Amino acid sequence: MRKFFIAGNWKMNLLRDSSVALVHQLLAQLNSSNNVDVAVCPPNVYLHDVGVALRGSLIRLGAQNVHHAAEGAFTGEVSCSMLQEFGCSYVILGHSERRAIFGETDLDVNTKLKAVLKSSMTPIVCVGETLAQREAGSTQTVVRGQCTHSLAGLTAEQMTKTVLAYEPVWAIGTGKTATPAQAEEVHADIRQLLESMFDRTVANSVVIQYGGSVKADNANELLSQPNIDGALVGGASLKAESFLPILEAALKIMK
Ligand code: 13P
Repeated sequence: MRKFFIAGNWKMNLLRDSSVALVHQLLAQLNSSNNVDVAVCPPNVYLHDVGVALRGSLIRLGAQNVHHAAEGAFTGEVSCSMLQEFGCSYVILGHSERRAIFGETDLDVNTKLKAVLKSSMTPIVCVGETLAQREAGSTQTVVRGQCTHSLAGLTAEQMTKTVLAYEPVWAIGTGKTATPAQAEEVHADIRQLLESMFDRTVANSVVIQYGGSVKADNANELLSQPNIDGALVGGASLKAESFLPILEAALKIMK
């Protein structure tokens, strides 16, 4: 049985005081429940402050990226051990902004994924097609390709410990959301691919989040789809009043 997982990807937003204030608002208003997993992913420089503010709560801490190496001459990068020292439970990998702006490839994602899986953190691997790719009718090929290459070489056990996030690039930060049917179609196809790469038990156990303009007014419909197990939320995660209704929607549905 899969549990809903709602994560806020703050990207490069908020400053220290506003980050901590947001956490305090979330904790004050969240109906604490073990039935939905919740995480926030602030910029690395605020992991400490946000982690302290989250201490003792059910909301987990996540990072937005990591370097695969354990240590070394990698100016500007951080390692899994460093993130773990800050109390991170999750790491987002291969976000479309990392892929498009910073040139990350499926091979990079795969290398990072293996490093994260060696740690005790849970990776969130992002995949998704661009508008041009969707319009060219290649959504399935693109997403399947990203999954196949990003997840290459994983054992069944490692796969069950990995979260996937389907984020159509054209829906990120644009206000355009995939319709529940469009999202469900891709999620179901990813699950089918997982069944062919691993087996049905593994495929049915993997949490697949949807991301791309998830908001209070579309969360319920999206999360009601059988293969959508949560949301990776950007813009709406930056304010308690827009993030909490998404959590509430998940709590209400609770598959
Ligand atoms: P938005 O919710 O702002 O569209 O961002 C989605 C996203 O990229 C989450 O990782």
